[in-house]
Amino acid sequence: MKGRTSPSDKVTILTLQEMKRRRKKIVALTSYDFNTTRLLNEAGVDIVLVGDSLGMVKLGYASTLPVTVEDMVYHTKIVARGNSRAFLVTDMPYLSYQASAPDAIRNCGRMLKAGAEAVKIEGGREMVAIVRALRGAGIPVMGHIGMTPQSVHLFGGYKVQGRKRAQWAKILADAKALEKAGAFAIVLECIPAGLGRQISRAVKIPTIGIGAGPACDGQILVVDDLLGLTTPPSPRFVKRYADLRGVMRRAARDYTLDVRSGKFPDLSHSYS
Ligand code: KIV
Repeated sequence: MKGRTSPSDKVTILTLQEMKRRRKKIVALTSYDFNTTRLLNEAGVDIVLVGDSLGMVKLGYASTLPVTVEDMVYHTKIVARGNSRAFLVTDMPYLSYQASAPDAIRNCGRMLKAGAEAVKIEGGREMVAIVRALRGAGIPVMGHIGMTPQSVHLFGGYKVQGRKRAQWAKILADAKALEKAGAFAIVLECIPAGLGRQISRAVKIPTIGIGAGPACDGQILVVDDLLGLTTPPSPRFVKRYADLRGVMRRAARDYTLDVRSGKFPDLSHSYS
């Protein structure tokens, strides 16, 4: 492996490990479509995640629970066609990996056939056997602990996890167990910044935070939140870098006014 990564180097698991070792922050974003994925690659994003947040930000569901394996295969194929440099990870939807190892291997394997380079599954120590089985089948696994959205009903809402001493210890133990089982990275969602720091120091694999503080080895956001496409209010951990809702609404309104007034199309947009 080369000592340094240039923007054109394809990101692999080895690149991510090297970035952790060199304390170079890993940049991750979700994507669900071709054009966005191309733009994220042009911007130099290291990991593109086809998140099951797809269900909430693109499919109009109230949670990620209704998302299916077919939904994820379909969007993984689209994103893979737009991807070039970034490491491509696909989220496994609810009930596609929890029931049994053979189930998990079959469903996760479909994501690799669709173009993903790794899969992400939610859960800690209870997922150790599944992580081992997936690795055994040649499938790289990213863990996801803390506030895991597929367990929203268990948590009684999208609430910060790990504030209580016992919860803190459990999440730390989950991270260590996932590393031992062979996960190549872990997403830490909505936990105190101190816990994010402690886990990031305790494990050798990269931690990717979302609402887990600045000490994580990398950060991830839902791209629609970052672009200001989702409806406020957003969780505290979201930083909006653009107001695309405003831009899109204004463009559609200007077009509406122009068509109604006869201003569009003019001769420059017509054929002789
Ligand atoms: O589905 C998703 O977008 C995710 C990220 C928020 C980590 O799991």
